[in-house]
Amino acid sequence: MPLTTAHAAALTSMVGAIHARSAEDLRHLDPGVEPRNLGADLWLRPATTTEVSEIVAYCHRHRIGVVPHGGRTGLSGGAISHAGEVVISLERFTDCMVDPVSRTAVVGAGVRLSTLAEQAAAAGLSTGVDLGARDSATLGGMVSTNAGGISAFRHGTLRERVLGLEAVLPDGRVLSELGQVVKRNEGLGIERLLVGAEGTLGIITRVSLSLVPLDGPVATALVALPDLESAVRLVTTALGSTHATPAALEFMSGNHTRAVCRDLRYTELEDLARTPFQLLVEMTAASPTTAESSLMALLESGASEGWITDASVAQNEEQRQRFWRVREDWAVDRERPGGLWYDISVPLSRLVAYVHAVAARLAAHDPSLAIYLLGHLADGNLHLTVNADHPITERYEEIAGIVTAGLTELGGSYSAEHGIGHEKKATLERWIHPTKRQLMRDIKALIDPHGIFNRGKVIPD
Ligand code: LAC
Ligand code: ZN
Repeated sequence: MPLTTAHAAALTSMVGAIHARSAEDLRHLDPGVEPRNLGADLWLRPATTTEVSEIVAYCHRHRIGVVPHGGRTGLSGGAISHAGEVVISLERFTDCMVDPVSRTAVVGAGVRLSTLAEQAAAAGLSTGVDLGARDSATLGGMVSTNAGGISAFRHGTLRERVLGLEAVLPDGRVLSELGQVVKRNEGLGIERLLVGAEGTLGIITRVSLSLVPLDGPVATALVALPDLESAVRLVTTALGSTHATPAALEFMSGNHTRAVCRDLRYTELEDLARTPFQLLVEMTAASPTTAESSLMALLESGASEGWITDASVAQNEEQRQRFWRVREDWAVDRERPGGLWYDISVPLSRLVAYVHAVAARLAAHDPSLAIYLLGHLADGNLHLTVNADHPITERYEEIAGIVTAGLTELGGSYSAEHGIGHEKKATLERWIHPTKRQLMRDIKALIDPHGIFNRGKVIPD
């Protein structure tokens, strides 16, 4: 049911017309990675927690659906909104306070990851989190989705970085648990439920985070590997380095790397890309010489053991950026549009077996399908693109069943770092344990009795 003019007017008056957009105006706003994000009838940009609370209390009274928006970079459709709903954008929540002594930060939900990273770096600190969408993803959305990324193998996902948060609950009440200490045992950790709840239990307005020391200089290489076993051995060897710390261990299958090199005309990397797999290795240490010598020692041991067949060491920042572009570019989707994308994780010791099994299952199911792998290999997180020479978008569920089968038994996950959102809801329904399913529904009913927050997402029906 569309939002009535009276409701739209009442809600708009809570933020002022300049901070509101009608469905008509929304056609001119960038929806982000998911075109359906801006399907709502009204978009509001409150400035304070009190304003969010007033809007939400009104929506609670009138049973109006609410969808929170951060940077709109989510890849699971958690920010999709529909006619009759109201989007609450947190983009004006930009306060950012770094405490260098306590090594913490308290930030508004709308602060971008790269903004916090810059402020933390000025104090010799780091967020401990990095991901491709660093310039657009916001901390509120990242905590809501419990984002992972490149450094999760060292510092955990957002859940491990969060010390506390402030949120508006679906009836308008404010939950304020903004402690800035690691040790805080004050009864049930209710606020922890909101980390990874993807806006189904509350709108996170502010978060308190634990920071880590800023990394020293890095040495970077793009390495060619003959097989998956070699990739896992290289990762475990790098993790055991004593003089330097791996800062990134990013994995690619050769077909991904070749697609990017073709598209970007990175001719100097074509030979390296011809090999079955590649790993982007970045070592960090207190001095550039230690970082470099540790990287070289790792490459030499890999070469002598036969795990590495070729490597290119970045000679300057520009070359390093090209290696990262090879990892973070999505040329595969431009070359063969309409592919499917899955985000899973497996314990490293079982990753090789899983990949072989999934490749065999897919080939048996439909030999015309191609698989491309990317991953944050050190924590066993793989991104699988499955595509064909024509778009196969409508086959998401059919292929999800094949890709995600057995992951729970392996100790892995059918939903690693991007959340359930709208996209993986059927997958969650397929694999979730019945006890957890019931508890999720009970908790949702307790906190959001009218079911107005992020309808149709995450929580099983
Ligand atoms: C990546 C993001 C999309 O790893 O998770 O590229
Ligand atoms: Zn990723």
